Amino acid sequence: MLDQNPRAVLVLPTGNTPLSLYQRLVQMHQDGTITFSATTTFNLDEYHGLSPDDPGSYAAYMHHEFFDRVDVDPRRVHLLNSLAADVEAECRAYEEAIRQAGGIDLAILGIGRNGHIAFNEPGSDFASRTRRVRLTAQTVADNQTLFADPARMPRFALTMGIGTIMEARRVLLLASGPRKAEILARALRGEVTTDVPASVLRLHPRLTVVADKDAAIGLADPKGEASEEVAS
Ligand code: GLP
Repeated sequence: MLDQNPRAVLVLPTGNTPLSLYQRLVQMHQDGTITFSATTTFNLDEYHGLSPDDPGSYAAYMHHEFFDRVDVDPRRVHLLNSLAADVEAECRAYEEAIRQAGGIDLAILGIGRNGHIAFNEPGSDFASRTRRVRLTAQTVADNQTLFADPARMPRFALTMGIGTIMEARRVLLLASGPRKAEILARALRGEVTTDVPASVLRLHPRLTVVADKDAAIGLADPKGEASEEVAS
């Protein structure tokens, strides 16, 4: 996409899953095959109340894994400011910045073990916009391991909404490892329901799913063959 449209507006995820994608993009940048100088980025989410300098913050992750290693223009990088005094205004401004940028060309997503996309936890409205949310106990347990002091992990976050994500012109869902197999199968084969937020993506006209073998195991039919194309 970036070779065809260097001015693309991207939505970027965090977590373990996209690490190899960022490594690849950094490598391509170093090889001179890709530039991000005209690319606009919006991150999906951020813990509430965590300084961007905190090593547990998604801002720190993004700088370390990607922004500081490529030629992205800092003026085109958008991260939710979770220290904002007025969180609602911050979320409204984020939505406005996406509009001003011309909308999202490609949203890249991971999936939580409970089916969350960004920090849209089960029960999130499919029309939801960028907002502050409470994290579920499962998400806290899963993500706490990434904090040197687990007790410091915030219980709230700011997240792009499901409605916001669904307006992206293209969506790429990434899933890796056996821990994601069950939820990926529910999201792609089960009912489309707010109980599994990622299931909403099946209503998107241009969804591509990239899953490794371990994550895709639940998508195979009883004969052990993939029952249908994962990517659409
Ligand atoms: C966090 C992020 C999600 C991400 C999920 C999965 O909760 N808010 O956007 O998809 O983690 O993370 P991992 O790739 O580490 O399994």
